[in-house]
Amino acid sequence: MKTVDLLIKGGAVVSPSATIEADIAIDGERVVGIAAGEMSPPARETVDASGLHVLPGAVDSHVHFREPGYDYKENWQTGTAAAACGGTTTVFEMPNTHPPTGTLEALRDKQARAKRQAHVDYGIYGLLDENNIDVLEDLTRAGVSGFKCFMGNTFGDLPAPSDGAMLEGFEILARLGMRCTVHAENASIMARREAKMREAGRNDAPAHLAARPEICAVEAVGRATAFAEWTGARLHIAHKSSADGLDLVRRAKSRGVDVTVETCPQYLIFTVDDMDALGGQLRVNPPIREKGHGEALWAALHDGTIDMIATDHAPHLPEEKASNSIWECECGFPGVETQMPIMLTQVAEGRLTLNQYVQWSAAAPARAWGCYPRKGLIAPGSDADIAIVDLAAEGRISREALHSRSHMTPWHGFETRGRVVHTLVRGRIVVRDGVLADAAGWGRPVVQDMPEPAPRNVDKTTAAITAYRPD
Ligand code: NCD
Ligand code: ZN
Repeated sequence: MKTVDLLIKGGAVVSPSATIEADIAIDGERVVGIAAGEMSPPARETVDASGLHVLPGAVDSHVHFREPGYDYKENWQTGTAAAACGGTTTVFEMPNTHPPTGTLEALRDKQARAKRQAHVDYGIYGLLDENNIDVLEDLTRAGVSGFKCFMGNTFGDLPAPSDGAMLEGFEILARLGMRCTVHAENASIMARREAKMREAGRNDAPAHLAARPEICAVEAVGRATAFAEWTGARLHIAHKSSADGLDLVRRAKSRGVDVTVETCPQYLIFTVDDMDALGGQLRVNPPIREKGHGEALWAALHDGTIDMIATDHAPHLPEEKASNSIWECECGFPGVETQMPIMLTQVAEGRLTLNQYVQWSAAAPARAWGCYPRKGLIAPGSDADIAIVDLAAEGRISREALHSRSHMTPWHGFETRGRVVHTLVRGRIVVRDGVLADAAGWGRPVVQDMPEPAPRNVDKTTAAITAYRPD
């Protein structure tokens, strides 16, 4: 038998459909075999995984690494180091940096930064906004993994595009087969409410939630799915936080609209009541809502309406989250390093199975972004992107231990059951026994193979009507 580079020996290997005791043979960057012990090839190096579980590394469709422009909050090195330590082996990074990733120049600059620093593989989102519709195709050719459209205001203050620009953008993305992620909250309702509440002197923590009621999400999810259905553009709904609007997704899916949805641990576990203790630390867009929404999100994961778990890793400095006025606290908090221990704790509590966990954290996002089964699955031929975890290890999340530049987290003190021991990215051990290796620069852009484009109503697109000439 040919000697391979690495053998992960004696672990329980987890896929969405099964958990089997097996060794994993890795040669170069790929998995080359999965076999019971006596069938395993000799290896130059062996990782002992007995008593441990071997999972596909998480694929996180939603992180903000802040560089360029806000490097003091995070950069590509610290953000991807945090990912690796959390068992996440692929990230998709958002365009609300400064400058935003809406031009070819900004994209090339971000690609160079990521290439130099990344510990894990990555995709880079391009921005879809009012003024860059004409460069969406160029951005696609230059290697963006997908697009992000901020329908509602959030960190970075990028104005929402008009409906006209958004629809025209979707027409183009439909032709290209690209997926567009939307921040689905209605900008106008939120701006008006926030202004009125400020005027009225409301600056308490729950005022943030009151300014962004469920109708903001319902309206934006409805508009985005309508545009996606009309144009045939692929749609992804970021950070679903409310029960409301899930039914719109359910019905769009049943009509065959290619729409995927993510939620995040914070929406599954916290409620707005946690703001009593955490205040502005828990300010995030969309807001964490009243009790009951989390239950509906869990149910929607279980019935397939929500496809995946992402983190919306959104680091800010502790002092930027600490004002007495909620309006002065930045929105968002880090999450890429804590997702896996938090969700494994939910597995221990019986809220999901380990097989569902790898479906929602790895296989589903890899599929949505055209990377499956190269990413998101441990199988012969797949990239050896692997998180080896100890499900029995008890611990406690500590802000001091985070690798993110932003040493704050609302999860500080949260008791966990499940720990990431080793992380491999394309066959290389980037975290060993919880210690980060010096693998900055090892991360590569993801290779994507999206399904064939399926544009609709092509004779009614902006391109078609402006090209029309009466005989
Ligand atoms: C995100 C950020 O800080 O970039 N903030 C947040 O509250 N989630 C932006 C976003 O995803 O809305
Ligand atoms: Zn975000």
